[in-house]
Amino acid sequence: MVALLTSTSTTQLPPLAFPSSSYSSSSPFYGARIAASGRAIYCPALTTLLPRPTTRGHSQSRLEFLRAAAVASVSVRSEMKAWVYEEYGSVDVLKLSDSVAVPQVKEDQVLIKVAAAALNPVDFKRRQGKFKATDSPLSTVPGYDVAGVVVKVGSQVKSLKEGDEVYGDVSEEALNGPKQFGSLAEYTAVEEKLLALKPKNITFAEAASFPLAIETAYQGLEKTGLSAGKSLLVLGGAGGVGSLVIQLAKHIFGASRIAATASTGKLEFLKSLGADLAIDYTKENFEELPEKFDVVYDAVGQCDRAVKAIKEGGSVVAITGAITPPGFRFVVTSDGEVLKKLNPYIEEGKITPVIDPEGPFPFDKVVEAFSYLETGHATGKVVIYPIP
Ligand SMILES: NC(=O)c1ccc[n+]([C@@H]2O[C@H](COP(=O)([O-])OP(=O)(O)OC[C@H]3O[C@@H](n4cnc5c(N)ncnc54)[C@H](OP(=O)(O)O)[C@@H]3O)[C@@H](O)[C@H]2O)c1
Repeated sequence: MVALLTSTSTTQLPPLAFPSSSYSSSSPFYGARIAASGRAIYCPALTTLLPRPTTRGHSQSRLEFLRAAAVASVSVRSEMKAWVYEEYGSVDVLKLSDSVAVPQVKEDQVLIKVAAAALNPVDFKRRQGKFKATDSPLSTVPGYDVAGVVVKVGSQVKSLKEGDEVYGDVSEEALNGPKQFGSLAEYTAVEEKLLALKPKNITFAEAASFPLAIETAYQGLEKTGLSAGKSLLVLGGAGGVGSLVIQLAKHIFGASRIAATASTGKLEFLKSLGADLAIDYTKENFEELPEKFDVVYDAVGQCDRAVKAIKEGGSVVAITGAITPPGFRFVVTSDGEVLKKLNPYIEEGKITPVIDPEGPFPFDKVVEAFSYLETGHATGKVVIYPIP
């Protein structure tokens, strides 16, 4: 059974559908997709729209405003809580420490009081030691995606000030010398150029779900030359990157037709994101379909098959796995300008955050959140909130 979201907010959102199998009754957002307005929770068990939980009658956005104001007015401590690993390995190497030094702010950086973070596959691949040769030295505070409040600014920072609510990716290059101190911490220091102001209509948890995935989706689509009137096949349409590729292709790049792959329980979800054709990869081989595409966006690692699904002269971008020509590899370079460009689409409700309904995971459940992401079957983004 698939539940469709409707929203009472003033922002018009396309309805999204989640596979019912992934709902968790232990989550505070049980059965929920958080609406971009932050005002409603859809509960499929009750098939009703519930008001979002509040504390002492305050709305969620009011609470976040109060929190931001309080954060901006307190002085920063010298030590903080953070998740840390001192050796490469499985989730077992992750330890929660309450005495990690708060990072120093360089002149082009701001210090962010972290409100929310999100996990990406690169976080666990890095932790497993797959990028040892180009990694920063251990110990590592993991986490690339961040949303929070600026509490300190470096001397060369031009456009951000204390109290600004921002979001972005902590490291410019995820694989090449990523920061030693990431976002799974109370504070993180980030270059101004990697950040944008948080869209006004979304929560910190929703904002944290975007940066690395949406920048990968946007820049990868740009490289393919996708433009209005062209058709697109997305491999892995239900994942963190794929769910945004579908939305961007439809609402920004003007794709004429979008197909996407996922397993049986996620086909309605793909359609709710904007896919015209949802392909069940457990039942069909996409490359054997008679329909061919101008562009394939491969977020799974199936480039050898993807090149058989394009029209003559078509383009295949692959963000993981081995490359088969004419497919090409793309690796994201984080850039706050991409987020700034996309902010109006988010604020208009055209691009909506997709948070896996198993989460958001609270800060002390980071190990569980990693274990879940590492199944390879998350829907949208695995978010950590609140922090701490
Ligand atoms: N090059 C770059 O710059 C860059 C940037 C970001 C990410 N990446 C890489 O890109 C990959 C995807 O990232 P992500 O964040 O989207 O991962 P993710 O969120 O963990 O992806 C999970 C999704 O993959 C789907 N999936 C698994 N096997 C599939 C298959 N055979 N066919 C279709 N869908 C399948 C799952 O759907 P089901 O549950 O239905 O199976 C699930 O929804 C990762 O390897 C990541 O490291 C690279």
